[in-house]
Amino acid sequence: MLGNFCYANPTRLYFGENALDFLQEELSRYGKNILLVYGGGSIKRNGVYEQVTAILRESGKTVFEDAGVMPNPTVDKLYEGCKRARENNVDLILAVGGGSVCDYAKAVSVSAYCEEDPWEKYYLRMEDVDNRIIPVGCVLTMVGTGSEMNGGAVITNHRTKQKIGHVFGDNVFPRFSILNPVFTYTLPKYQMTAGFFDIMSHILEQYFSGTDDNTSDYIAEGLLKSLIHSSRIAMKEPEDYEARSNIMWIATWALNTLIAKGKSTDWMVHMIGQSVGAYTDATHGMTLSAISMAYYRHILPYGLEKFKRYAVNVWNVDPQGKSGEEIVGEGLDRMEDYMRELGLVMNLRSLGVDEAMLDGIADGTIHMDGGYRDLPREEIISILRDSL
Ligand code: NZQ
Ligand code: ZN
Repeated sequence: MLGNFCYANPTRLYFGENALDFLQEELSRYGKNILLVYGGGSIKRNGVYEQVTAILRESGKTVFEDAGVMPNPTVDKLYEGCKRARENNVDLILAVGGGSVCDYAKAVSVSAYCEEDPWEKYYLRMEDVDNRIIPVGCVLTMVGTGSEMNGGAVITNHRTKQKIGHVFGDNVFPRFSILNPVFTYTLPKYQMTAGFFDIMSHILEQYFSGTDDNTSDYIAEGLLKSLIHSSRIAMKEPEDYEARSNIMWIATWALNTLIAKGKSTDWMVHMIGQSVGAYTDATHGMTLSAISMAYYRHILPYGLEKFKRYAVNVWNVDPQGKSGEEIVGEGLDRMEDYMRELGLVMNLRSLGVDEAMLDGIADGTIHMDGGYRDLPREEIISILRDSL
């Protein structure tokens, strides 16, 4: 393990078909005023809204609603949410939805009492929170981001064409999250599979780095194998509880800080993908799938040993009698086959990207240097071009 670290995760998770039964007990820990945050209406169609509001009523809460959180929540929506939270003096923000709703709730929680422009403070200057934080609880309906158990809050600014994530500290993690796999059954296939790849990408971002022998990499391989297995089942049978519950649990562990402990991490697929998102407003997981094969084939020579291990341990490539290049090539081919099998978006044009946007996307890509290759701008352009 590298360096010194502290591991603690403050989010209390309730998992399973009856997980919502614990909401009432959680609500009793907070004051009367609840800001109920949700998206474009899926929770009204699948009955989750009804179940949650019944519990809020039974708990005697005063509920203020903040609906219409869009996928890839915007800075304008954030300003609106801050006003509503402040004006109603809310004691808890209850997010009911996917990563966008959970991220937005966290962004409002740190921004409502921020005396400066939160976009500039948290997203451009990346400063820590030094004002009152409103606690957040989540009822998760879409699996992928890990937002239910982390401090991430990604916000998009369409005016400046920037999509930026701030990873806040422990004090901003959801206080509790309710994970009922059944709530995810109504997800459209496009969102479901985008979520599968988001999970895979989170694990790979933390796996493809370093040369040390690290327990986190073994955990990552286990999570990846379970994800590949269960996602294939869920593709055929979306209401297979076993598969959907495994996937929900993998997503949480993929990005709740555990597998990043004691190692370096990459995150360049996400940085490029977010910039693609800023230009296209495309579904997050699909921005990652569209560039991943070009990215991994590009960095392969710099991390050959890990790519060999990936091919053998995750994709079951038989290394007997094969050269290193053959082994890693076969591993990445199997990954690509799997991605096509899921029906993921495999190129940027399908997301609305054209040649003229590539410079802007490269310029908007935040630079990270923890992976196998510290990418100069021209290599980002070349990866983008290979992904078109
Ligand atoms: O808005 P509604 O009507 O609820 O519809 C949503 C939305 O259209 C729908 N949906 C969610 N649950 C559903 C459902 N439809 C039917 N049945 C259900 N049970 O799915 C659509 C997508 O939802 P969204 O929340 O946008 O998806 P996701 O969970 O992928 O979140 C994406 C956002 O999270 C950020 C992304 O950048 C993006 O902004 N991320 C957050 C991270 C974090 N906190 O750590 C890390 C990730 O890498 C990611 O960047
Ligand atoms: Zn992601």
